[in-house]
Order: sequence, then C-alpha cells, then structure tokens
Amino acid sequence: MMLIHQGKFTLKRENSMHAAAFCILHASLRQLTQHIHLLHPEERSYYETLKFDKRRESYLLGRISAKKAIGALSVFEDLGKIAIEAGIFQFPVVKYAVTRNLQVSITHCEGLGIALSYPEVHPLGLDLERTDKANTEAIKEQLTPGELALMKTVPLPEDIACTMVWTMKEALSKVLRTGLTMDLKLLEIQSLVKEGDLYTSHFKHLIQYRAISCYAGTHVCSIVVPGKTTPDLEEFWGYFRETVLGSGE
Ligand SMILES: CC(C)(COP(=O)(O)OP(=O)(O)OC[C@H]1O[C@@H](n2cnc3c(N)ncnc32)[C@H](O)[C@@H]1OP(=O)(O)O)[C@@H](O)C(=O)NCCC(=O)NCCS
Repeated sequence: MMLIHQGKFTLKRENSMHAAAFCILHASLRQLTQHIHLLHPEERSYYETLKFDKRRESYLLGRISAKKAIGALSVFEDLGKIAIEAGIFQFPVVKYAVTRNLQVSITHCEGLGIALSYPEVHPLGLDLERTDKANTEAIKEQLTPGELALMKTVPLPEDIACTMVWTMKEALSKVLRTGLTMDLKLLEIQSLVKEGDLYTSHFKHLIQYRAISCYAGTHVCSIVVPGKTTPDLEEFWGYFRETVLGSGE
C-alpha cells in the first residue's frame, strides 16, 4: 500500500514567521507510476530516458513527494504545471511555481521519499539514510576526529551515530547546493546533543545553520535549518517514525 503523509509546519524566527511543508512517501515503482500525471511534460520526457527501475523509482519518489510538499503549501497550484529541474550541481530547482518563490529539498532511500518545500528566503536541507553496518567503516573514515569523539557522547549505537552525523553533513551540503563535492571537513559538526527523541548539532564553519536529527529503526533523517529558526516539526517526526516503522523496518 502506498503511504503518504503531508503537512505544513512553521519556521519561527525572532522577527518573522515562515511556512514550509513536508511530504513523506512510501511506495513501489508500480504505485508511483499511477501518479505520473503529476510530472510536468519536461519531467516526463526526462523520466522516459531513465533506463534503470531503481532510478525511475527514486526519481518518482523525489518528484512526487516534492510536488505534494509544494501542494501542501500552496493549495491552488496545478502540480503537473510545476517543473522541478536539476541545477548544474544536480540541486532541485522549482520552476513555474509562479505565484511564490518556493524551493524544495529532496531525499530518497529504498522506497521511501521525503521532500520539504520552503520559501526561497528561508533555506532548508534534508537527508535520509539507512544505516548499513557495511558502510559504517567507510563513513567513519570520512569523519573528523572531533566528530568521532562527539559520537561517543550520545547514547546511540555507533552505526546509528555515524549515519546521523553523515546525514547532517549531507543535509547541510544540500542547503549549500554543492552536494558533497567539497572538502567534507568544511561541513564538520561541532556539537551533538540529545534533546528528547531528537539530536541537534551546530556546525563548526557554517555557523548560520543547525541540524536536527531523528532515527527510527535503522533509518536516520536530518533536517538543516538556519540556526536561529525554531521549526515546528513534531508532526513531521511523528509521521517519519510511523512510515519507517510501518514499512516493515
Ligand atoms: C547530492 C548528494 C548529497 C545526495 O545525497 P544522496 O544521499 O546520494 O541522495 P539523496 O536521496 O539523499 O538525495 C538525492 C536528491 O538530492 C538532491 N540533490 C542532488 N544534488 C544536490 C545538490 N548539489 N544540492 C542540493 N540538493 C541536491 C536531488 O533532488 C536528488 O534527488 P533527484 O536527483 O531525484 O532530484 C550526494 O549524492 C552528492 O553530493 N553527490 C556528489 C556527487 C555528485 O554531484 N553526483 C551527481 C551525479 S553526477
């Protein structure tokens, strides 16, 4: 069964308030193709060039969850008229959403797609990974001694902590629109704190931003927000856990 959760959340700042939205989608390729009408003709043409089912699935997970996240923010949009292009570093660029300057952050992982839509004035970044013991060693080699030490200060199994730090860095790289094509030390975290069910970090160099992370089973999701923003993500994290744990994790 295709699982879909969408909703709005607020981004509270000292002198302003912004609205953003999310969509969490769990679906197979066959289920996703039933929603193909949500693609813009340009997206549809690109989709038709994709040869491998794995990429077809991830493309649709990303595009459909992003459209639904945009739809949750601006109810009057005809989602099939919105094109989400790939920028020169593969970052998503929302085009034809003429009424508002909305952008999206997209992540997908084995049948699960998550997207955030947000006003361009207030960037957000998102990443989701599944912990894979085989990858933990490879990730550890990419982390700094400081990050490895921070991981030991929180009550998390090492592989989850590793994946968590990694998703925080990936989410930051999406905010920056560079992806990981940079010296990864620039994305270094400098704190890791447990706050209830969530974990938060500040970054050593990108001091304007802060990461908020949550895990469910072996999945870890991180959202990067401007440091002084308080996002109201309770509903999002609830649906994240429900979707991951309901998907047979
Ligand atoms: C971009 C990157 C952080 C994505 O992370 P990932 O864990 O592999 O994959 P995720 O599912 O979490 O995210 C994929 C989505 O991130 C978004 N994305 C890709 N590059 C991005 C960038 N530079 N900035 C912001 N978002 C980006 C896209 O929307 C992509 O989904 P889509 O291709 O279906 O639109 C990572 O793959 C990377 O940096 N790679 C560097 C190498 C590279 O540039 N590859 C491009 C292919 S040639």
